[in-house]
Amino acid sequence: MPEVQQAQSFTSSLREDRSFPPPAEFAARAHIRSRAEYDAMYRRSIEDNEGFWREQARELDWFTEPTQVLEWNDPVAKWFGDGRLNLCHNAVDRHALGSRAGKMALLWEGEPGEVRSLTYLELYAEVQRVANVLKRYGVRKGDRVAIYMGVCPEAVIAVLACARLGAVHNVVFGGFAAQALADRMNDAQCKVLITQDSSFRRGQDVLLKAIADEALTRCTCVETVLVHRRSGHDVHMQEGRDRWLQDELKSAEAQCAAEPMESEDPLFILYTSGTTGKPKGLVHTTAGYGVGTLLTTKYIFDLHEEDVYWCTADVGWITGHSYVIYGPLLNGATVFLYEGAPNWPDVDRFWQMVDRHKVSIFYTAPTAIRAFMKWGADAVRKHTLSTLRLLGTVGEPINPEAWMWYHREIGHERCPIVDTWWQTETGSIMIAPLPGAVSTKPGTATLPFFGVEPAIVTKSGEPVPAGHGGLLVIRKPWPAMARTIFGDPERYKQAYWSEVPGCYFTGDGARQDEHGEFWLMGRVDDVLNVSGHRLGTMEIESALVAHRAVTEAAVVGRPDEMKGEGIIAFVSLGDHVEPTPGLKDELKKHVAKEIGALARPDDIRFTPALPKTRSGKIMRRLLRELAATGEVKGDTTTLEDFSVVAGLKEKDEE
Ligand code: PRX
Repeated sequence: MPEVQQAQSFTSSLREDRSFPPPAEFAARAHIRSRAEYDAMYRRSIEDNEGFWREQARELDWFTEPTQVLEWNDPVAKWFGDGRLNLCHNAVDRHALGSRAGKMALLWEGEPGEVRSLTYLELYAEVQRVANVLKRYGVRKGDRVAIYMGVCPEAVIAVLACARLGAVHNVVFGGFAAQALADRMNDAQCKVLITQDSSFRRGQDVLLKAIADEALTRCTCVETVLVHRRSGHDVHMQEGRDRWLQDELKSAEAQCAAEPMESEDPLFILYTSGTTGKPKGLVHTTAGYGVGTLLTTKYIFDLHEEDVYWCTADVGWITGHSYVIYGPLLNGATVFLYEGAPNWPDVDRFWQMVDRHKVSIFYTAPTAIRAFMKWGADAVRKHTLSTLRLLGTVGEPINPEAWMWYHREIGHERCPIVDTWWQTETGSIMIAPLPGAVSTKPGTATLPFFGVEPAIVTKSGEPVPAGHGGLLVIRKPWPAMARTIFGDPERYKQAYWSEVPGCYFTGDGARQDEHGEFWLMGRVDDVLNVSGHRLGTMEIESALVAHRAVTEAAVVGRPDEMKGEGIIAFVSLGDHVEPTPGLKDELKKHVAKEIGALARPDDIRFTPALPKTRSGKIMRRLLRELAATGEVKGDTTTLEDFSVVAGLKEKDEE
């Protein structure tokens, strides 16, 4: 159970009066053109929730139309329960076999500069052949397939090929280390792994196959490894287990029918950090996820036929799943993909590509925007950015300064900015302005999407008055919500549906202002948000205590100008272990090796003991305060041993 802080005591000093109405030209051709139109459609979506979703579900192509909408047995939801469909068919076939056959589906640029593109018809052909290769290695409906790749068309094709067969994809972010990959493959019991030799980032080879080899030594479930040859980097191929995807494709059959799936059949498992050491495998199902991602992409990004859409997320995160792959392709969009780093070979790489590929919709994270600010506007001003018409952000609260910079330097004061709040668990965007209808303000994600009923409450579920901080909950189920945690339905119930009675608990604090707009204030549990990525403090602590020198560890976040939050670890060492700077470096490397570079602590502080309550719980609140301000002023009445805090402060002053 997360240690929920006193939500009632949140105060918010953020006051923002700047408001940007939708530009008239933008609104004139938007799907939703006015606030009145949004208000009416939103009201309808809440008052006749099932009627609304029944209607919206018609945007998908069904093998069997559903007659049911929602079956809700708190906390188990079934959406469109008696329908049958296939999301690969919806994302690819119906466009390839219809008017979008020759339309560009994927447009990719590798970090070294090569460009590849696939039309919907070409994507259709590729996906079928890869699905047939998977079939050859025994992959059937319901089997789990791990995907550990960089951003490239093959990663998208691998995901879609799984969906075509009804196999459950488990994409693991290419920045995760061997142990993290092994844990995720083992937990999901993956039968096949799809990876690549290496991928490029900042001019370096990211040795995906070599890391996968190490993970596979700790994993018994994977029978076959399919390796996409991307860089030509020399890799070890284990006889009988590893096969080059390109070789396999030469003899693959061209046609592969899309498996008719039940609406509630699982589509994917995606692991995310929680408040315990073990990441949670969130299970998303087929129809509801399809309806949710299709609709949010269409309205929130105001997607039109001629748009070139670029979401900079990696396919290994939920944003990559919902807004690089499914949402845009279900809408028949042209999706731009980029393999590498934003500052390679130079800090204007993104803006070069926006001009080169005529990107019109650009969706990124505040942490990236802050990096661009640091690199300076001159790098941006070398490019016209004239094709851009809409900008988006996701992953963490955006500071008004970054919002204004984005508005001015990237959007040229012409492009609306959609600040989109959502989570791995929610599957699709929950709170965001519709850009042709709702005025935007720096720092607020504004209003809920259709069918979504958020509220700010106390821990016991009492509503909190406008302007006051509290816990953000969602009062109604929605189609794209995760259905369970793989193998642990009880944990799903505990984590999300027990904290606040009758509601989905987001783990975020927020306030709603007098205009009904939502201002996100960050996590209220022991989950960190580092550069828009979610990390459990327990996960990092588990990695630290696994090191032979460490007896105890407590990890907290500290505000960080660039990353949103930095990682600070308080560590107690075993007897006779010397607290040297060299050991600090070793521990940082150790965490990066266990989890991945994104979890590397910014700072390690050695301490003889950690501050604990009389019942033995680590007082993270004190540590957070200490990490942020260098001192402890808060309430210490439950602290077991006052000398511990004094000791920590002394260390801090060293
Ligand atoms: O704290 C919120 C923050 O990111 C968390 C979800 O993380 P994850 O599941 O990794 O998904 C990230 C991408 C959807 C949330 O609980 N968060 C996400 N978007 C925003 C945000 N915080 C403030 N504003 C946002 N727009």
